[in-house]
Amino acid sequence: MSEIAQLTPGPRQRHGSSIGQPLTRADGRLKVTGAAIYAADNHPDGLLHAVIVPAKIARGRVTSLDVAAARAHQGVVEVMTPENRPPLAMDPYEKSNPLMFRMHLLSDATVRYAGEPIAVVIAETLEAAKEGAALLAPRYEAETPEVTLDAEPYTPEAVGPGQPAEATKGDVDAGFAAAAQVIEAVYETPPQYHNAMEPHAIVARFDGDSLFLDMPTQGLAMSRMRIAGLFGLTPENIHIRSPFLGGGFGSKGSVSSPEALGILAAQLTGRPIKLVLAREEMFGPVGHRGQTRQTVRLGIDAEGALTALDHLTRAATSRFDEFLEPSSGVGQSLYNVPALHTAHEGVRIDIGTPSFMRAPGEASGSIALESAIDEAAYAAGMDPLAFRLKNYAEVEPISGKPFSSKALKECYREGAERFGWSDRPLQPRQMRDPSGRLLGWGMATAIFPALMFQGNARAVIRRDGTGVMEAGAHDMGQGAWTAFAQIAADSLGLPVEAVDFRSGTSDLPDAGLAGGSSHTATAGNAIHRAGAAVIDKLASLAVANERSPLFGAGNVGVVAREGRLTRRDDETASESFADILTRAGLDEIAAEGQAASDAAAQEAYAMHAHGAVFAEVAVDPELGQIRVNRLVGAFAAGRVINPRMVESQYLGGMIWGLSFALHEKAVHDRRTGRIVNANFAEYRVPVNADIQGLEAILVPEEDPHVNPLGIKGVGEIGITGTGAALANAIFHATGKRVRSFPIGLAEVM
Ligand code: MOS
Repeated sequence: MSEIAQLTPGPRQRHGSSIGQPLTRADGRLKVTGAAIYAADNHPDGLLHAVIVPAKIARGRVTSLDVAAARAHQGVVEVMTPENRPPLAMDPYEKSNPLMFRMHLLSDATVRYAGEPIAVVIAETLEAAKEGAALLAPRYEAETPEVTLDAEPYTPEAVGPGQPAEATKGDVDAGFAAAAQVIEAVYETPPQYHNAMEPHAIVARFDGDSLFLDMPTQGLAMSRMRIAGLFGLTPENIHIRSPFLGGGFGSKGSVSSPEALGILAAQLTGRPIKLVLAREEMFGPVGHRGQTRQTVRLGIDAEGALTALDHLTRAATSRFDEFLEPSSGVGQSLYNVPALHTAHEGVRIDIGTPSFMRAPGEASGSIALESAIDEAAYAAGMDPLAFRLKNYAEVEPISGKPFSSKALKECYREGAERFGWSDRPLQPRQMRDPSGRLLGWGMATAIFPALMFQGNARAVIRRDGTGVMEAGAHDMGQGAWTAFAQIAADSLGLPVEAVDFRSGTSDLPDAGLAGGSSHTATAGNAIHRAGAAVIDKLASLAVANERSPLFGAGNVGVVAREGRLTRRDDETASESFADILTRAGLDEIAAEGQAASDAAAQEAYAMHAHGAVFAEVAVDPELGQIRVNRLVGAFAAGRVINPRMVESQYLGGMIWGLSFALHEKAVHDRRTGRIVNANFAEYRVPVNADIQGLEAILVPEEDPHVNPLGIKGVGEIGITGTGAALANAIFHATGKRVRSFPIGLAEVM
């Protein structure tokens, strides 16, 4: 280890650190005053408006478009169809990595799913573009589409990026043979569509060889690479701004066809283009959570110990690309079971390609598995929490690895205490509220892997004693920039106000993807490293200089705090950043940092965040109306950078879990394949009146292995556990086990 590295030994000093402070959002004022500029708020000079024309059939071909009528309409500038779409440098059907999706960009007359863009109309105003689109009056040759899971399945190679489709541990047949009881049930989850408040949008402008883009993205660098490939541009000549996202949830992780069509429209017309999806256009070309049918089989012995677990998922994908909701994986890490088998099969149907949607796999898989665990607990005559404790995994079942940390028992205990779980009668239909409604209590376990990708950041300390931290990171509304600014300030030894945190454009260091609940770990550790690196440089200037009070401190080290470096062994020996730089004749000093997951730690440990969710529902016995009275979630996810943001992430995830259990479902018309509820009136999501009594408990957890800052990620875990806790509470209230989601009035009547 170099002398420089010894200057900032770990664990880093937390004295006066901004890490752990419940700061309010750095961007809060901008958002509530309307000063935050979203992609669609940009209006470059000479701007044209483009709209996509979505296919109204799900399978077949376009036989005619009245392009002449649309073109003749006042204000219409151009109509882009397969006839005149500019050539691309790369076939958009190709994909070089599993995070990319195949696109058909007006490649031919074929229609592969309802909502597929079949033309783009470009006009001087949005109104003219929409009117022109209406005049296209497409005619189709329609074939009967398949939009259900009943079609012939196939066996995929993998699910999700790099996960094997099938995994086995132990002797599953022997496990079931040894069981005193086998519980088997089939659960169904519907297609769900990401419905960020901000739809997909792009403002695209070419200037010579350069392309300027305003578009919300969860992956600036990945988007830039994808667009560079499609359009044959040098990545450095593509400048993407994505300062604010009005939600992403996975659907803005990859470039999808509407954004690419917006750029093509700019190429075709030679003018800047704005293309913003209408709400109903969000149902098709920008990904969704594919429907699943999951068969779960559990063996239990006479004492209620699991003897075997088998989880098979049938998942839908499109005809032209593959993304299978990896629902079966969740049981690989949850309970102590000697034999387990998880597998997936795919069904190709006439839908847009499914994609990553908040907790892909874990959300849909845990609602099934954790319902099944509840069924097994009843079959064993045990309290559902006692059953889970009986089957508590001390090591990860699939791998046999120890957990890097696992405060799940504390989550169970704190959640149960707060909720009052110990008063729960074992049998269903035992509790009523004063108005006669049936009350039910249910619980479930939450789990999400602690992921981390590669990220970079650049730190600067300026002669005036302030700092700059640059990281091309993404704030989707989760509060990332607030948390990153806190980590930056901590790493630089400055108060948060003294650090200029710069983010959200592709010209900054690539801070990694905001997905898989990995962003705080990835970008946060890169920021941490960049800060440490610049402090090391600054320290080496001081300790090597005889005129510094820190001269010769190299052997014992110095600590950065409140804009000063201080000797570790002598608080009175210190010097300000400003003085060090001034003496050195430097305006500023800069350093870069990089973070990536530690392969050795990954090899040695299983890394997951955990939680427990407890739910109370009231069900009207005559009307079947379900109300959620209370939801208590207790989560342990390593170090908390900002408890206010983390609590907000947990609550948001829990609300989505409630939505999964009780509200969300895209309904296909089986004759046309179209989604009949592609709007916010009928694609139900919870409203304020549906949400009450929510509580998230932040259970302390220290993880020395997961990454230097000990961060596990909190964006997705809240949606896991919650759905099943509600389904289990509905069973406890009514005695009816509903296995098809969402659960509605009809199912419980
Ligand atoms: Mo998330 S589905 O990884 O954006």
